[in-house]
Amino acid sequence: MRVLGIETSCDETGVAIHASGAGLLAHAVYSQIELHAQYGGVVPELASRDHVRKLAPMVRQLLNDEGLEGHDIDGVAYTAGPGLAGALLVGAAFGRSLAFAWGVPAIGVHHMEGHLLAPMLEQEQPPFPFIALLVSGGHTQLVLVEGVGRYRLLGESIDDAAGEAFDKTAKLLELGYPGGPALAQLAQHGDPARFRFPRPMTDRPGLDFSFSGLKTFALTTWQQNAPQATDSDRLKADIARAFEDAVVDTLLIKCRRALQQTGVNSLVMAGGVSANRQLRDAVAQMMSKLGGRAFYPRPELCTDNGAMIAYAGWQRLRAGQHETLGFDIRPRWDMQELPQI
Ligand code: KG4
Ligand code: ZN
Repeated sequence: MRVLGIETSCDETGVAIHASGAGLLAHAVYSQIELHAQYGGVVPELASRDHVRKLAPMVRQLLNDEGLEGHDIDGVAYTAGPGLAGALLVGAAFGRSLAFAWGVPAIGVHHMEGHLLAPMLEQEQPPFPFIALLVSGGHTQLVLVEGVGRYRLLGESIDDAAGEAFDKTAKLLELGYPGGPALAQLAQHGDPARFRFPRPMTDRPGLDFSFSGLKTFALTTWQQNAPQATDSDRLKADIARAFEDAVVDTLLIKCRRALQQTGVNSLVMAGGVSANRQLRDAVAQMMSKLGGRAFYPRPELCTDNGAMIAYAGWQRLRAGQHETLGFDIRPRWDMQELPQI
């Protein structure tokens, strides 16, 4: 079974084909970063219009590159939520229509389920049950995963998501948009001993997160030190390092707690922030110390992409799940409501 996957929940247009046996045949991502950079953030209407422009040519190109035609595709999966309503509508309308034209089933996929299952696209697949740490621009969640569609939310961010905190802190340090990767790069040159940022909500029980205070902490540290700083690049790097250390440490503390609470010893990490080198290394180190195992996708499959949607859709379509002829989007969507397979 060959499934075409379409991702348009935010500012990346992603397309991919996943096939039974062969796995991921091909994928392509077009990032709208340049389009939104001048506004310092994603402009939803511009995002939708750009998805409209890019989707058809990207799907055509993908099929051509693989020597495939429409009748070689057995199902279409599109992101149905959560995300920007207009952007989701573009992918859903396009995907549902293509499936209708080709006479194949279609399925709306949960974006975070896509992230969560992305490590399955790698050679070594995590065994169920596992704990998933989902760290993206919109979500920070700890999920107990007992199978596809068997998700129990253990904790989540009560304010900014980890990626959002990276982006906002980068913005106040004037590192451009989206600043997460730039901040991470700068942090590599920072002095870890100069500042110590708090590890929010780690001194009380529970698995929820709160990252918005770290951004304020970064701002105050900047304001207090910038006037007398002789080297402001150095100061920015040291703040970036203290911020990143605090985020990584906080995520690790909560992951360890989730593993202990559930008695599970495999940890999956996915979503844009899981591309962060320091976080990947720290998680791997922690899991080897705990005698467990860590799994994460290759960096290009950590951020938004069509491959994870094709894979999640393939799992559901081959189990017989599909949509009616209509289509629906869910800008807000609790992953725990998804059906099991
Ligand atoms: O999963 P994703 O591509 O989109 C959402 O579903 O939100 O995640 C994007 C987020 C952004 O906030 C971005 O700054 C962050 O992931 N990100 C990173 C890194 N690469 C992407 N944050 C820290 N370090 C990175 N290397
Ligand atoms: Zn995402």
